[in-house]
Amino acid sequence: EKGGYDHFMLKEIFEQAKVVKDTLMPRLPEDQNRIVLDDIKLSKKELENINKIYIVACGTAYYAGIVGKYLLERIARVPVVAEVASEFRYRDPVIDENTLMIVLSQSGETADTLAALRLAKQGGARVIAIVNVVGSSIAREADDILYTWAGPEIAVASTKAYSAQLAAMYLLTCHIALELGRMNEEEFKELRDELYQLPRKVNRVLNKAERIKRLADKYVNSKNVFYVGRGLDYMVSMEGSLKLKEVAYVHSEPYAAGELKHGPIALIEDTTLVVGIVTQAELYDKTVSNLKEVKARNGKVLAIAVKGNTEIEKVVDDVIYIPQTHWMFSSILANIPQQLFAYYVSTALGHDVDKPRNLAKSVTVE
Ligand code: F6R
Repeated sequence: EKGGYDHFMLKEIFEQAKVVKDTLMPRLPEDQNRIVLDDIKLSKKELENINKIYIVACGTAYYAGIVGKYLLERIARVPVVAEVASEFRYRDPVIDENTLMIVLSQSGETADTLAALRLAKQGGARVIAIVNVVGSSIAREADDILYTWAGPEIAVASTKAYSAQLAAMYLLTCHIALELGRMNEEEFKELRDELYQLPRKVNRVLNKAERIKRLADKYVNSKNVFYVGRGLDYMVSMEGSLKLKEVAYVHSEPYAAGELKHGPIALIEDTTLVVGIVTQAELYDKTVSNLKEVKARNGKVLAIAVKGNTEIEKVVDDVIYIPQTHWMFSSILANIPQQLFAYYVSTALGHDVDKPRNLAKSVTVE
């Protein structure tokens, strides 16, 4: 049932081209200049009345949510607050009829996320759920649904569901921007063409698994790992750090690259690994100067960069390249090396990668 793979986690990582395709393609028919979202009834008029969006989820689903926050604010120009459900539900947030809440959940059963959804509905908000399990509690209680077609996820650590959640966020961002007139047809078609290419590009990153395994072996004894980036890269770094913690039990932290010098740089020494994500062209120089500061303090740097950028090789110890794509969509591609890295560090250390200690697949108690 593991389809020839050693573990479910690896199998699920390798399913991601299909998952991204299944989530995107039925919603992007070539003969229509719109996104087809069958289970979203929210009308253009209702959307125009929305003045604030909350994105609420837990864990990996939350990290997909914060990528969505960046995309929605930047492209659709609506203010977005993203928050973990366990905080949101207890802080008496401002909710009214002009509030849109987007919740994300693989299982559709996470207790805190479900409670946050109920709180939003009580306050009169409209709720869209991005959810993987059809008929789950969150799917049943939300007003609108965008299903992620990731299929059952068996490994405790979430991998393919995150990619599907990001794909869903790309769709929802384009949909809202189109409805609000903040994206024109020309712009949409360009993005759609790029989305059509994405599953193939996912496979190109997966083809680097052997190389990433060698890098995992090289850095397996790192004492502390920082994942750093700016903008969307910073959002993606959070998921990379979580994956390493939960399956490899290696202490790691995500950090906004510009914040390193405000404290954590004190921890950099020769046993520290910094994974630097540098896919966002307009922030590239800024992050690279932070990576140079790490090197100057004897830290090791592994970069995730965009193909064609050979300059970075002069600065860092190792580079994993991802294919070029639109800046919005590099989030899926940049995360795949992080998943593989965590997987290979975990298995090199002999851990039970599919069932990490202390973790449950679905957290139905708070
Ligand atoms: C991490 C992981 C968890 C879940 C979180 C939310 O790999 O799996 O952080 O993402 O418990 O679960 P769902 O998405 O089912 O609401």
